[in-house]
Amino acid sequence: MSSGGIQDLIALEPILGASRDEIEALQLERLRSTLRHAYANNAGYTRKFDAAGVHPDQLRSLADLARFPFTTKADLREAYPFGFFSVPKEQVARIHASSGTTGKPTVVGYTRNDIATWGNLVARSIRAAGGRRGMTVHIAYGYGLFTGGLGAHYGAEAAGCTVIPMSGGQTEKQVQLIRDFAPDIIMVTPSYMLAILDEFRRQGVDPRSTSLRIGIFGAEPWGDGMRAEIESAFDIDACDIYGLSEVMGPGVAQEFSGTKQGPTIWEDHFIAEVVDPNGRPTPDGEPGELVFTSLTKEAMPIIRYRTRDLTQLLPGTVTKMRRMAKISGRTDDMLIIRGVNVFPSQVEELILRCEGLAPHFAIEVARPNRLDEISIVVEARPEIADDAYQAQGKLLAAMLKDNVGISAHIRVAASGSLPRSAGKANRVKDSR
Ligand code: DLL
Repeated sequence: MSSGGIQDLIALEPILGASRDEIEALQLERLRSTLRHAYANNAGYTRKFDAAGVHPDQLRSLADLARFPFTTKADLREAYPFGFFSVPKEQVARIHASSGTTGKPTVVGYTRNDIATWGNLVARSIRAAGGRRGMTVHIAYGYGLFTGGLGAHYGAEAAGCTVIPMSGGQTEKQVQLIRDFAPDIIMVTPSYMLAILDEFRRQGVDPRSTSLRIGIFGAEPWGDGMRAEIESAFDIDACDIYGLSEVMGPGVAQEFSGTKQGPTIWEDHFIAEVVDPNGRPTPDGEPGELVFTSLTKEAMPIIRYRTRDLTQLLPGTVTKMRRMAKISGRTDDMLIIRGVNVFPSQVEELILRCEGLAPHFAIEVARPNRLDEISIVVEARPEIADDAYQAQGKLLAAMLKDNVGISAHIRVAASGSLPRSAGKANRVKDSR
């Protein structure tokens, strides 16, 4: 972002111009009151803090946070549905839930203040991506219990934008509304953006000819290869938005459009840590699992939540708030194939390096003869002739062998043959 750009944002929100010391002083003050609130009003935290022998009054510095216990998804599930709220039910203005693939959903709640804070942080995120008051935002994240649609919606309204609450699905209509309503910004999962791209091409409409200038993509991992693909297909700037329901929803961290160096964590509202597999905090720059503590949430303060997302913390660039590297995967979507760790995001990056292959793929893992086998079906680009499929498959197999160290069965399928998802992509089937 140009210095003029950030100066505009600082004029609106002086905290974006704060020094490290100022940010950390604010964090300490807010952390103290969050810990007290959680301990006093949430039986789960009272029990856990007591069991760990820690008390909110013992927090003297930010480093002391490491003495407090972690919170996991299991803690939230145990409290299903409303047992994790730290305010009386009458003060909960909104419920969201994340579906998860197994078991009960994880339920989260917001007070009116929480909803306002969330809207302001998504508005800040939209501005960081280059959005401004008066622009039109097409929202194709799903509306409903998922935090994507409504989170983006309230944020776009708070930013003073005109909102098109399209939600996910009805891909033909997505294209029609983008053409007719002339949005400046689209907010959608990167994988569904690719499905919208297919539909533009199917209708014979040039995707570069639309009014869109900015895309704010998140809710699933996507690499720089995917960024290049989407930016050139639509002629837009593509920025990463990160978040999770347990911590708030979208807008926990956001990439600035001028730099695109990974999402800046909104550290006035959240403390991020990265921990190793044993739960020990690692120094900035070291990869590990991201852990979040909320600093301003009322209905559901969250202390040291293990996100399972893998990344590393990086120094601030545009602001003094730290950044996170793009998420490389989740501890729970890491596949271990004959002892080798593989993330779907690595497969995606390699596919994007094969000129004839499109980033639509499905991974299947099985153990037919007591040995893991991985098969990948990947679509060819539409312009590739059938007789080139085999060579493209061989190329990808060789790249996987060289870069990841696995032998995969590759099948290249015709363009458009794999199912598309209207939200987060579901690319892995593990039948072991
Ligand atoms: O996906 C919130 C969200 C909506 C974020 C729209 C961004 C845009 P959940 O459904 O609770 O919430 O899923 C959270 O999605 O722990 C990550 O694994 C993944 N995720 C979210 N944003 C990103 C991103 C929403 N930018 C889980 N890059 C998180 C990679 C992401 N993964």
